[in-house]
Amino acid sequence: MSTQRAAIILAAGKSTRMKSSRSKVLHPVGGRSMLAWTADLARSVGATKIVCVVGEANTDVRAAAEALGLDIAVQEPQLGTAHAVLAAKGALAGFNGDVAVLYADTPLIETPTAEQVFDSLSQGSDVTVLGFEPEEPGAYGRLITKGDELLAIVEAKEATPKQLAVRLCNSGVMAASRADMFAALDKVDNKNAKGEYYLTDIVEILRDMGKTARAVSASETEVMGVNSRPDLALAEAAFQNRMRERAMEAGVTLRDPATTYFSYDTEIENDADIGANVVFGPGVRVAKDAIIHPFCHLEGTSIGQGALIGPFARLRPGTEMAAGSKAGNFVETKKAKIGKGSKINHLSYIGDAEVGEGANIGAGTITCNYDGYFKHQTIIGDGAFVGTNSSLVAPVTIGAGAYLGSGGVITKDVPADALAVARAQQVNKEGWAARYNAAQKKRKAKKS
Ligand code: UD1
Ligand code: CA
Repeated sequence: MSTQRAAIILAAGKSTRMKSSRSKVLHPVGGRSMLAWTADLARSVGATKIVCVVGEANTDVRAAAEALGLDIAVQEPQLGTAHAVLAAKGALAGFNGDVAVLYADTPLIETPTAEQVFDSLSQGSDVTVLGFEPEEPGAYGRLITKGDELLAIVEAKEATPKQLAVRLCNSGVMAASRADMFAALDKVDNKNAKGEYYLTDIVEILRDMGKTARAVSASETEVMGVNSRPDLALAEAAFQNRMRERAMEAGVTLRDPATTYFSYDTEIENDADIGANVVFGPGVRVAKDAIIHPFCHLEGTSIGQGALIGPFARLRPGTEMAAGSKAGNFVETKKAKIGKGSKINHLSYIGDAEVGEGANIGAGTITCNYDGYFKHQTIIGDGAFVGTNSSLVAPVTIGAGAYLGSGGVITKDVPADALAVARAQQVNKEGWAARYNAAQKKRKAKKS
């Protein structure tokens, strides 16, 4: 790839149909914003400069775009897609290469598809448009082609009945050299049905300048745009199906694929076995042979080889389950490193903790990590045995091989290999219960 690449991301629209106080392009698909998806696509094809076009009112989009490291161009007012791209002219002044226009509300386009658009330029096209054949062409612009050449894009509102019958539509993605794109944009007017400056007009303008236009195509799911909550749900479903298929193709067992939910960055190795109703929030890695039983929720967590999780486990950010470790039913973890082969089998909260290797954390163990103001750390050494229903009041360290009697409230460090008993001594009073019961029965009989 010798020619430099840049991208212009259009995000100045109003997005009224979302009925949201948040701008449309900040709504998430697969756990990250549509804007982030688009920026990532641009990066994945090697765009060295990415300009995000925002409206004055989209202060949230602007902040998000800046956080993503994008350059900002403001388009105010919004007079159409050509006008939007022109807003990025200044930001690309020093750039001499190919530029793709992307829409920030189209999150599912894949890298090879965007590559195809740029590649077409290096194969002799001067302007290339990404087309698709929707089930309902409706309001999309129609791509008028002849052989392998693109003659024009006609907006539905301007189209003749014959043009409206064309099935190949404009996805909105378009690429040309920066020089050609802005030379053509300068000639776009707004004498059309909507009174807007149409980016699509540059195809004919460039052809009139003796340039070549081509179309490449993608599937409808890939180029679907999100305008409303139902669209957002459709995009999410398409994303989930894509991830499910990929996971299974990569050798992951999904017991009930339709109920496994992924994030954009979920990584699962082959021979992991995922039960029904498992949700992977952002930042999850699962190693080979791990088994995740049904109804688990994981975020920011790494699961080591052969680890056993759930059913009904909630693993929160900062959890690292080492190989062969176990977090069973109704176990919650957060910022917890659980060493090789260590087991937390039932009903526990382990937060801000480090557990060594081969430790056993009994049922009902709670790390009391929060004092109402600050969080504190619990350290549990290799091979320690934490009795059931232990409260570990952090900061506290349990030495390797230590043994905690059940029901303890552990407030002091426990040395390695020691026994700690931290509960009241048991007292047995012979015959007490029999005397008590007899006395109470007598009182009750008198009252009735
Ligand atoms: C556009 C295309 C149409 C294509 C369709 C695909 C034009 C003239 N038409 O139509 O051929 O089939 O997309 O979805 O380009 N935007 C701005 N500033 C503006 C106007 C729009 O930033 O002044 C942004 C919007 O936020 C949106 C994108 O550009 O992300 C597309 O704009 P929209 O008005 O939705 O274009 P369509 O009429 O759908
Ligand atoms: Ca649109």
